[in-house]
Amino acid sequence: MSVRHFINFKNWNPDEIESLIDKSIEIKKEPSKYRTALKHKSLAMIFQKTSTRTRVSFEVAMTQLGGHAIYLDWMTTQFKLADVRDEVKYLSRNVDCIMARLKRNVDLMKMASASKVPVINGCDEKYHPCQAIADLMTVKEHKGRLKDLKLVYIGVHNNVCNSLIESCTMIGMQITAVTPIIHEPAKDPELLAKAKKTGLYQTTLDVKKAVQDADAVYTDTWIDMELFFEPKFQEEKEKRIKTMIPYQINDELMKGSEALIMHDMPIHKGYEISGEIVGSPNSVIYEQAENRLHSEKAILLKLLEDS
Ligand code: CP
Repeated sequence: MSVRHFINFKNWNPDEIESLIDKSIEIKKEPSKYRTALKHKSLAMIFQKTSTRTRVSFEVAMTQLGGHAIYLDWMTTQFKLADVRDEVKYLSRNVDCIMARLKRNVDLMKMASASKVPVINGCDEKYHPCQAIADLMTVKEHKGRLKDLKLVYIGVHNNVCNSLIESCTMIGMQITAVTPIIHEPAKDPELLAKAKKTGLYQTTLDVKKAVQDADAVYTDTWIDMELFFEPKFQEEKEKRIKTMIPYQINDELMKGSEALIMHDMPIHKGYEISGEIVGSPNSVIYEQAENRLHSEKAILLKLLEDS
């Protein structure tokens, strides 16, 4: 039997995505039921980029499921020096699952092809599927359903935006992207073409109109994490801030709206979102971040069950 990976949603069907969301909600309500569900199982977590939530949520998830997680920093392991496939061939003989946050999707695909155990995408330049499951879980908790709701994503079209477009359109949710800038490495024309065919994915630059009937309004950083302090990227960073500042989520934009305010964190207050909106009554940002824990559990259980 071939191994099931979680790289994006291409090999997953809408029922499976909805099941992952429902399972996440169920686990959150009754975590003690799953205390030994992954007893004696080990997860390797490989990071080539920085992280707070992905690292913490997967490690705590494994502990709370009775298993164990091992943190591996790309730069202080032989991943830095060797062929990624050789390292993963070795690693997958020792652990039951691998979660990796890599700079390039192409390397993650090499990992998946060499691995005997499931590989989870902890965010690469194209996709952030784990984040999307926690996001939709949060919307479902608040709204009681997902179908026919409208999410508006405002920001740079990036990995988070791709995974939201892919998952929303698969489960029958409308998504409007207000993205004046497209982050080149995130481009996936096939994903967008498939989403367009559903009639649920739209784009606009009229941000005011887009948020009027939104059920959730979502933003993310304008600058990819590894580029934030990169000297060579500073000119592009300034250009982006100038282009994007009219699209900031703030009190003025959200006046009269009851939409949930969402952000996957880390937050850059004063850029993509104002400080007041982060703490506003409709903000579910910290809950959304907490939900990474519950949804990582659902993802781990599903993959280890299937394998
Ligand atoms: N949202 C998210 O993936 O957070 P981290 O970058 O802190 O893992």
